[in-house]
Amino acid sequence: MKTGIDVLDKLFDKYKIPNSDRIIIFDSIKNILLHDEFQRRLKDPFYHHGNIMLGEHILQDVIVTYLLCKKNGNINISYALKIAMMHDLYTRPWQNSGVKKEFFHRHGFVHPIEAVINSSVWFQDEFNDSKKSEIIIDGIVHHMYPLPVTSYNSYDENILQLYNYELSKRVRPDLREILIDSSNRSRIGEVSLTRSKFKEGRIMSFADKIVSISDIDGTDSITSLITGKNKRLLKNRMI
Ligand SMILES: [Fe+2]
Ligand SMILES: [Fe+2]
Repeated sequence: MKTGIDVLDKLFDKYKIPNSDRIIIFDSIKNILLHDEFQRRLKDPFYHHGNIMLGEHILQDVIVTYLLCKKNGNINISYALKIAMMHDLYTRPWQNSGVKKEFFHRHGFVHPIEAVINSSVWFQDEFNDSKKSEIIIDGIVHHMYPLPVTSYNSYDENILQLYNYELSKRVRPDLREILIDSSNRSRIGEVSLTRSKFKEGRIMSFADKIVSISDIDGTDSITSLITGKNKRLLKNRMI
């Protein structure tokens, strides 16, 4: 059963989105929302911040992005919503993974790279125009700004310890080039520290901050962003 529509409806009500806008948003995101990989991220074990499911977090970002876009002129709203839908489509649930990684290979720094790789393979129809592809990929890569993103250079070996390394070999060469350019811009050592070149990405990144701050429900969630461990989540799930 497809579960995303009820979550989306609940969020539409929460943000008091009028019917005409609900149709625009749904039309823009439906192909991604109804995809099996997105559906998986609406339920256990894909907890994102605190007890909020990753899929719900993403849909909340979609709505806040839409509201911010409507306040700003000269923005391709559909592209901004695609960035929101894809920005956190990382491969594995990140909290309490138990896997030890080098500092800049940890979730916070590499998940935008995993999200670009996954999205560009799962949703190839969304990458049918070079400018659109550049705007979407750059937006995903730099959505964590002012946190840096790890620079991606090669798929010859799994240097970044990505969970979707095998899938990365299937990324189209033109999209791989955009990912490499984008994640090496303003590079300092192993990371790139800059906001997106495009308004669509910058607005989505701002929406993500607003939603993430409201999602975080306590100290455990805040520390988990750095350590990858969330004791409260483990406790709640044992009840
Ligand atoms: Fe993220
Ligand atoms: Fe996010």
